[in-house]
Amino acid sequence: MRLIIQEDYNKLSLWAARYIANKIIEFKPTSERPFVLGLPTGSTPIGTYKQLIEIHRQGKLSFKNVVTFNMDEYIGLGEDHPQSYRTFMWDNFLSHIDIPRDQVNIPNGNAKDIPAECAAYEAKIKAVGGVDLFLGGVGADGHIAFNEPFSSLNSLTRVKTLTHDTRVINSRFFDNDYTKVPRIAITVGIKTIMDAREVLLLVNGYGKAHVLQAMVEGPVTHAMTCSVLQMHQRALVVCDEEATNNLKVGTYKYFKDIESENLDADCLLI
Ligand code: GLP
Repeated sequence: MRLIIQEDYNKLSLWAARYIANKIIEFKPTSERPFVLGLPTGSTPIGTYKQLIEIHRQGKLSFKNVVTFNMDEYIGLGEDHPQSYRTFMWDNFLSHIDIPRDQVNIPNGNAKDIPAECAAYEAKIKAVGGVDLFLGGVGADGHIAFNEPFSSLNSLTRVKTLTHDTRVINSRFFDNDYTKVPRIAITVGIKTIMDAREVLLLVNGYGKAHVLQAMVEGPVTHAMTCSVLQMHQRALVVCDEEATNNLKVGTYKYFKDIESENLDADCLLI
């Protein structure tokens, strides 16, 4: 696992956006060989989306040959519900770039046959050749996508019941009323994420310091599903200084030292 420590949220967002843009540019995607990008929702990636939009506006990056797969979606909210992840993605990112609509994939939380929708989602990811880069955030309980604690580390796209904690935390988008937060969601599985050729997780703020510590220094455990990243061949975590608060001094210094020369090399093209 690599850990890139940036000074603050803005720098973290800029670094992640430049890294993703570089990956897409280097890949030289075509319609026959698109770049496949996994995408999250949440407040964490908003800064990265803003920076990617800016890079696109400057004419340095096109999404014409990018195919996206979102991580998750609530079950039972109308598609146009302001808090559906579909609405979030179009408002915060997809409407502002040149991606063709039919290259965007977001689980349909209103499908008549949800298990069939989950199976079809997995099959579609396979059909395009798998995910090249999965971008993600983490929940306060260490979840990635909606893979709550004790999810199978071998899971695929399926329905998950959200924990009370997650519903309370996400209630900030639902008039602070957790009963308005759907109880279930479609989420890609841990294996779906682990099968991506590269995974990039964003962790920011003091409130996620315990998660970063567990993910980097703790054991691999289904109790903290993001810790599975330790098993990925190309896992990259980008955090801000605040999120490093619970790391050992030695861990912090190790990553600062070892990444000091890589920081710009990862973002050479733009
Ligand atoms: C939700 C999403 C996750 C996201 C998490 C953290 O539960 N399903 O994909 O990582 O929220 O959100 P935030 O970035 O707002 O802390």
